[in-house]
Amino acid sequence: MSDPIACIEDLRAVAERRIPRMFYDYVDSGSYTESTYRANEADLRQIRLRQRVGVDIGARNLTTVMAGRQVAMPVALAPTGLAGMMRGNGEILAARAAQRFNVPFTLSTMSICSIEDVAQNVTAPFWFQLYVMRDRAFIEQLIQRAAAAGCTALVVTMDLQVGGQRHKDVRNGLSTPPRMTPGNLLNMAAKPAWLCSMARAKRRHFGNIVGHVKGVDDMSSLASWVKDQFDPTMTWADIEWIRKLWQGKLIVKGILDPHDARRAVEAGADVIVVSNHGGRQLDGAVSSIQALPAIVDAVGERVEVWLDSGVRTGQDVLKAVALGARGTMIGRAFLYGLAAAGEAGVHKSLAIIAAELDTTMALCGCTDIAAVGPDILAMRGV
Ligand code: GLV
Repeated sequence: MSDPIACIEDLRAVAERRIPRMFYDYVDSGSYTESTYRANEADLRQIRLRQRVGVDIGARNLTTVMAGRQVAMPVALAPTGLAGMMRGNGEILAARAAQRFNVPFTLSTMSICSIEDVAQNVTAPFWFQLYVMRDRAFIEQLIQRAAAAGCTALVVTMDLQVGGQRHKDVRNGLSTPPRMTPGNLLNMAAKPAWLCSMARAKRRHFGNIVGHVKGVDDMSSLASWVKDQFDPTMTWADIEWIRKLWQGKLIVKGILDPHDARRAVEAGADVIVVSNHGGRQLDGAVSSIQALPAIVDAVGERVEVWLDSGVRTGQDVLKAVALGARGTMIGRAFLYGLAAAGEAGVHKSLAIIAAELDTTMALCGCTDIAAVGPDILAMRGV
């Protein structure tokens, strides 16, 4: 039987047709010249694997543990803002697909569905991502809401205290609220499946924020609040403060430098995510895969080190694991599935990556993801 969707790139192409341009571009963008966005994928592609034969590869195991949780493969869904604009109730759909696949789902602070919306629609614990904002009382409140919703890990993102510009968002008027230019309206009208799903959606604004912060009741008051709130004065002392407030696992995301990785461990991180925010922040930064080995050398014995930014295939996951990552996070790779086909699309993204990972591991003569190391690389390439 033929299947028109063979890989993540196929889902991306469907997503591009199905949803309004401004939301597609928001996902498929890097900051400024997009050089780091491109380097993330290109550097992963460049790494060569060592083909091995004559090994019994009949029984294979992809399951592992990420932040204390047994998972089907070393892949978690990364926190992504606006997932609920890819498809109505997008965060709930992605969380359900992740639950069905037994991989972790991370809800972004800047999600459309709220922490409580997601908690009501899944039974598996999910993770919550936090930005440090000026309103520390609101941060405390978010941490309490995440704990009350049964979240088992808090992911603190450190690389977005000021925003890298994505040119397409500027040109498309993707702001809060989005600018309803005639062009944007016409483009939305041409996406009937998306319109239907948005019409049925529980929310169309940032559910963790609107109604929970005094004076932020609608999209226009939200715009000025968001602009003022991301706190550029955040330091490691804030991470230490969060560590005291949060009993669960603490995952610090947005680390590219071994010095910062050591600092994160001293501040109480259980997991470090090597990340350049999918090439959406510091344009000109090294790719995540290039940064990974030195960070594993610096802190890999003390904490789990994971990688995100650029992971689109099971081969990418395997290469990251070979270079010392105990887990990976995917953003665009699942958002394309979500935009293309909702919950089934996210499940498809995960199934594609798992099948690629399984086959690639086998062709390298490996049967257990936990035993994968640098010996499966023909040359490190990075
Ligand atoms: C937010 O996290 C973004 O990358 O747009």
